[in-house]
Amino acid sequence: MKKALVVYFSASGITAEVARKLADTLQTETFKIAPVKPYSDEDLDWTNGNSRSSVEMRDMTSRPDIVDIKAPIADYDIIFIGFPIWWYREPSVVDTFLEQYDFKGKTIVPFCTSGGSGIGETSKRIDTLTGNVAKVDAGKKFSVSVSAQELKTWAEQFV
Ligand SMILES: Cc1cc2nc3c(=O)[nH]c(=O)nc-3n(C[C@H](O)[C@H](O)[C@H](O)COP(=O)(O)O)c2cc1C
Repeated sequence: MKKALVVYFSASGITAEVARKLADTLQTETFKIAPVKPYSDEDLDWTNGNSRSSVEMRDMTSRPDIVDIKAPIADYDIIFIGFPIWWYREPSVVDTFLEQYDFKGKTIVPFCTSGGSGIGETSKRIDTLTGNVAKVDAGKKFSVSVSAQELKTWAEQFV
């Protein structure tokens, strides 16, 4: 059996809940992507074009600093990476994370939560951000109420 790690970013706890369930069903570890400056409610206000998230997400080169860049990626074969959809893609703090590591030979499996949007072109973006050295799955969107069984059935194709 291949070794899987569940990495996630979550601003308001929904993706964190799915990540926890996924890690439970796989009986594996989680690694949380934490921004140095946590996102406040004002930062997350997508109705305000000047909010931190709006400014960051408009700028494709934005890479907010993250706390811990010592995720044990080298020790795992499969990296599940979860995030909320922000403006139809992965938050830029996830881009910061992805650019820190060597994913050569790994399988990266994105998963997301959202208010309704799908996972979009995120898989292609992740492939580019990691230098086209990993096998990047198309990924999947889940609702917070996803059952452990559904997560297990989905995840088992990779492990
Ligand atoms: C800045 C921002 C942008 C968002 N953009 C989208 C979007 O484009 N499409 C969508 O369906 N939901 C969008 N959402 C909603 C989140 O994806 C959704 O609430 C998600 O489940 C939150 O996960 P979290 O609790 O792990 O942060 C956005 C939320 C925020 C804060």
